[in-house]
Amino acid sequence: MAIVLKRGSLPRTPHTEFYGKDGVLALEEIHGSYGFSGPWARKLHIRSYPTEQVLPPKKADFSFPLNAPKEAEILQPFLIQTGDMPYEGDPLRGRKPIIFGSSTISSICKPVKSMKDDEFFRNGERHEIYFVQEGDGVLRTEYGNIEFKKNLYLVIPKGTTYNIKLKSKKAWFLIVESKWPIVFPPHYINKGGQAHMSAPIVETEIESPVLHEPIDKRGKFTVYVKHNSGKVTKTVMGHHPFDVVGWEGALYPFGFDILNHHGIAREIHTAPPVHQTFQTGNVPNNGFSLCSFVPQMEGWHPKEVPAPYAHFNVDSDECMFFCNSSYGARKGFIQEGSLTFHPGSTPHSPQGKAALRSLASRGTMSKRLAVMFDTYFESLKVTETGWKYRDKKYVLSWDERNFKNDAGKGSYESPTQ
Ligand SMILES: [Fe+2]
Repeated sequence: MAIVLKRGSLPRTPHTEFYGKDGVLALEEIHGSYGFSGPWARKLHIRSYPTEQVLPPKKADFSFPLNAPKEAEILQPFLIQTGDMPYEGDPLRGRKPIIFGSSTISSICKPVKSMKDDEFFRNGERHEIYFVQEGDGVLRTEYGNIEFKKNLYLVIPKGTTYNIKLKSKKAWFLIVESKWPIVFPPHYINKGGQAHMSAPIVETEIESPVLHEPIDKRGKFTVYVKHNSGKVTKTVMGHHPFDVVGWEGALYPFGFDILNHHGIAREIHTAPPVHQTFQTGNVPNNGFSLCSFVPQMEGWHPKEVPAPYAHFNVDSDECMFFCNSSYGARKGFIQEGSLTFHPGSTPHSPQGKAALRSLASRGTMSKRLAVMFDTYFESLKVTETGWKYRDKKYVLSWDERNFKNDAGKGSYESPTQ
């Protein structure tokens, strides 16, 4: 995140004497990345360091194992129906990894209740981006609170301590984790540190955390820390973790509405890089790009074919989460929450007569909404959960025998959306 923010009160000169409360020396913490060379934030805790464990750490009663079934080693495209996964648990224990690689993990979480007030989570091994498919509530962090609702991305740096409160009866999150910070693409940013005027994002549309009064409270507060490929350790602190009187820096959680990705169209079909909202790692050598397929004008060239071409990026495994069923190239196969995973080693294309059907949508507004993440030089696998909720028929869904009565007429997008 290129924008340096300052919230609450803290000394003007870093690492100098400061009192957030009369007579109580505030204690400083640096939340850094890339070995003190990357984005960082400085926090001033009202009286205690965030290191004060008061009980020996122990293994948590839950974890996020990354197990791939043997059968999933057969190369194939996947369609995982996350809409069929049950709503259960809270935002902490309800997380279920479905796809993973050496640097990337994607999970679905469909909680039916808030996290407990005195329980917190810290992902100590991956940066996270949540996409809110359903529900609303508050992401509470030591940096402050971010209200969330449907269609918001929540970008949460590795090491952030947080608690999620639901306002709705249930919620549905897509979570993608990366070893590296998740940022707006550097090529969208000009030399002055602002987004280019021609970029699809405007960084001033971010939802930054609202810092409230520090919670100066002693007691037993559990922070579950995720580490070492999905293990979780229970640590117990002697004071409330949201005891920050002020912070400044460029490493902090923020929200960004997918509809604030301002789509760029052209006369003919537009390739995915124009849909990119975020990236992580050293793109295009590792990490992933995350794209937002927002409603926008289909190409208006008189001979335009709005359906995409068959394609594969041989260096990328491609995952796409469909927020609604209005995606012409997959019409009839997807429902809300379908997630396709197309390995980079084989091409994929629209099914059946989608290309012919798409001609009628030339120059019209699409109603699609989808989130795509494409890895670079990282092969992904499905977990046992991903395998369980796959559509077994998907791999043969391009077989022309399925389309023998299809004249290629009718709408390209779902009529229900
Ligand atoms: Fe694709």
